Amino acid sequence: MSGGHSHTHSSSHSQSHHHVLKPELPEAGRSEYMHWAKTRQAARFNLANSGLSAVTRSELGVTAEDFELSGPSFYGWSPLLEALAQHLRVDQARICHAEGTSMANHLAMAVCLHPGDEVLIESPTYELLVDTAHYLRAKVRRFPRPRALAFQPDLAALREALTSRTRLIVLTNLHNPSSARIPDATLREIADMARSVGAHVLIDEVYLDAVFDPAATTAHIMDDVILTTSSLTKVYGLSGLRCGWCLAAPDLVEKMWRLNDLFGVIPSHAAERLSLLALQRLPALRDRARQRLETHRDLWNAFLAQRHDMDDNPMLYGTVAFPRLRKGSVNRLCDLLRSRFETTVAPGSFFGLPDSFRVGLGLPTPEFTEGLHRLGQALDLLHGGDSAAGGARAG
Ligand SMILES: Cc1ncc(COP(=O)(O)O)c(C=O)c1O
Repeated sequence: MSGGHSHTHSSSHSQSHHHVLKPELPEAGRSEYMHWAKTRQAARFNLANSGLSAVTRSELGVTAEDFELSGPSFYGWSPLLEALAQHLRVDQARICHAEGTSMANHLAMAVCLHPGDEVLIESPTYELLVDTAHYLRAKVRRFPRPRALAFQPDLAALREALTSRTRLIVLTNLHNPSSARIPDATLREIADMARSVGAHVLIDEVYLDAVFDPAATTAHIMDDVILTTSSLTKVYGLSGLRCGWCLAAPDLVEKMWRLNDLFGVIPSHAAERLSLLALQRLPALRDRARQRLETHRDLWNAFLAQRHDMDDNPMLYGTVAFPRLRKGSVNRLCDLLRSRFETTVAPGSFFGLPDSFRVGLGLPTPEFTEGLHRLGQALDLLHGGDSAAGGARAG
């Protein structure tokens, strides 16, 4: 797939960023963001990634006995479904195991949307959610989560966008790109809005486990109109296992399993075995995430407080920050970071906010610290070397 030849202009890296990042109308059946992430994101100091760096085999304590090549996996592998049910505290009939949050999102949208149905998707958001809705031939409408509202959903705008043809409302919680957390009361209000027109709500919770003490629980348990998706990929650094799921009412879960027969049919059994092992060792993986993210959040907030060329609210939780550049071009900053500092961040243009950029906190501490240092140097250079950290940041 991604390795295949693409015959259109947008696969050429020499095209202007503008064209690649902001096509007039997204072409169905592709994602410019994912293509960028797979081909342009890697760097010595990768601050563009939104997840924790990968857990190694030895960190997880994997032995040869943990592998088996094939097993009784039909509509899920029972031991894994049991472990997920226990971990998520929901009935097994409410879980559809899927290849990452990505496939969980696709299945969830596909069972809620028919061609021509209206879907209301937050803006900014993770671009793949929009791409998937387009691919399913849904009519995509957006509602704002503006920086001015600290990236909370604008409920008045959402209410206004809702029609009798709305079949699905889509949000991320924690929010990608800002890590903003939606209060339960707001989620209830959105669920009520959806119910009033016979729609569902899909909440992508892939970053929600980056809330610690107390841990957050999935919004699916609030209401059957809410479907939630997540995985072990981001917070636990286990992207390679592709252990994802969608939680939904049992009739929808049944539809997703049946639909998945047309896609991957069954997952790799070796990955299912390793996912079970990871779930059994989740407390240690959670400690790893917590230590790292809390340390890096403090480092990030200190960095932010010293820069008068960026603005953002201090981070509370999550794996990514989304500062706004007060002056200068983010594309230029990204070019400088890449060409002079071996560092990448995710350009805000992928989220429709070209004055902002996303910084991931998931690298090991030495790399993260050095990455931030380099970001500071690139910002200084961008601003003509005159605005070193410090200065007179008001407030
Ligand atoms: C909001 C959101 N959902 C889903 C994904 C994909 O997750 P997974 O690797 O579990 O498929 C990402 C990846 O960046 C994401 O940001």
